Amino acid sequence: MFEKDFIFGAATAAYQIEGAHDSDGKTSSIWDVFSHIPGKIANGDNGDVACDHYHLYENDIALMKEIGLDSYRFSVSWPRVIPHPGHVNEKGIDFYNRLIDKLLDNGISPMLTMYHWDLPQWMYEKGGWISREICGYFEDYSELLFNKFGDRVKYWVTHNEPYCISMLGHLYGQHAPGHKNLQDAIQTAHHLLLTHGRALNIFRQTGLKSKIGITLNLGPAYPYSETETDKLAASRYDGFANRWFLEPLFKGQYPVDMLDYYESNHIDFSHIQDDDLKIINGETDFLGVNYYMDFNMRYDRDAFLQGSHVDMGRKKTAMGWEISPEGFIDIVRQIREKYTDIPVMITENGSAFKDEIKNGEIEDTERLEYLRSHLEAVVKMNEEGLNVIAYYVWSLMDNFEWAFGYDKRFGIIGVDYDSQKRIIKKSGRYYSNIIKKRSLQAIE
Ligand code: FCB
Repeated sequence: MFEKDFIFGAATAAYQIEGAHDSDGKTSSIWDVFSHIPGKIANGDNGDVACDHYHLYENDIALMKEIGLDSYRFSVSWPRVIPHPGHVNEKGIDFYNRLIDKLLDNGISPMLTMYHWDLPQWMYEKGGWISREICGYFEDYSELLFNKFGDRVKYWVTHNEPYCISMLGHLYGQHAPGHKNLQDAIQTAHHLLLTHGRALNIFRQTGLKSKIGITLNLGPAYPYSETETDKLAASRYDGFANRWFLEPLFKGQYPVDMLDYYESNHIDFSHIQDDDLKIINGETDFLGVNYYMDFNMRYDRDAFLQGSHVDMGRKKTAMGWEISPEGFIDIVRQIREKYTDIPVMITENGSAFKDEIKNGEIEDTERLEYLRSHLEAVVKMNEEGLNVIAYYVWSLMDNFEWAFGYDKRFGIIGVDYDSQKRIIKKSGRYYSNIIKKRSLQAIE
């Protein structure tokens, strides 16, 4: 049911698993700072230790091997490798060298995400994503990564989820750096897209033969009813969360309806310069898609974007996200119909549920069912010829789930944070069987 060369992987991100927050020359990121502000993270949790993957990576790679992963998606912590402007931290570089080498020794192909949210605090103090100055610094950072790891990394992701960085971090204030300002969010989105484009240019100059893309979190927006107003609410949410990123990347323009809407909300676009959109629209090898949910929208005159989400009464994960494998297929169809033919890599998909340990086992049947239904969706996508070449489950192991701290568990491997012991969950065993058989007929 899956082609031989289909890539089965699992994903993580540096701040969520590494710990070692101040070891071997690493300086703080905005997440180190934000997570220590009282009230920002559930239960007052932070990523100081997390899964201590910085020290336990060999053990973690052994588990990846046991599961049989083809590929592992991880991110580099920018302040671990560049702790001060212009200063490279060789000990930080060494860590990622050891990680990559160990992965390759075990036949696991590395996918490296360059930016998964942990901006160096020093960069934030220079204006962070709001300031255009970040472009030069991100170029230096990407050049360093290509030079140090380019001989071994097969897939590169420039940014993880520009929507979350701009909107959750700069409009809603739920993520670092905690701003609540639409102008900041719009500038952040632009500089994320622009640094992606500029990193592509540097990558092409290096002559590396590996593949580079960007990861967006996407989900289809449906009108709750066929009324014109509900259709407007859906189209606007689509414009806010999906089109705002897809159109510049694949059409070289921002969506006109959203530009008008934001302008009527007093947003200033003078940060966009000539040629920026041409750079953003550069040649990308694949599109990374993170899928968690779809959106059913009803008109709501007084709400931001004049729409609000409707609870459709479907089963939810522990995050309160309604489960919809149909939406998964729809969003990839929309990508094909409206934007691009380049290969799609599902760089994240997964679910949080409350787990219980019984007799040393974690029988996470709901996560297993979630995995099954979403992999079935991937099979359907490829039966329709939608060219999905990879699936990375979120996540390899339970970890620091941002504003929710350690409360929400997404792993196919369970982590006991007191002892740092790991247990492969039932869903992990199931995934392992699927990978070995390349089929969903696998025994649970
Ligand atoms: C995505 C993030 C990832 C993880 C999952 C649940 O938005 O990229 O780090 O938190 O959600």
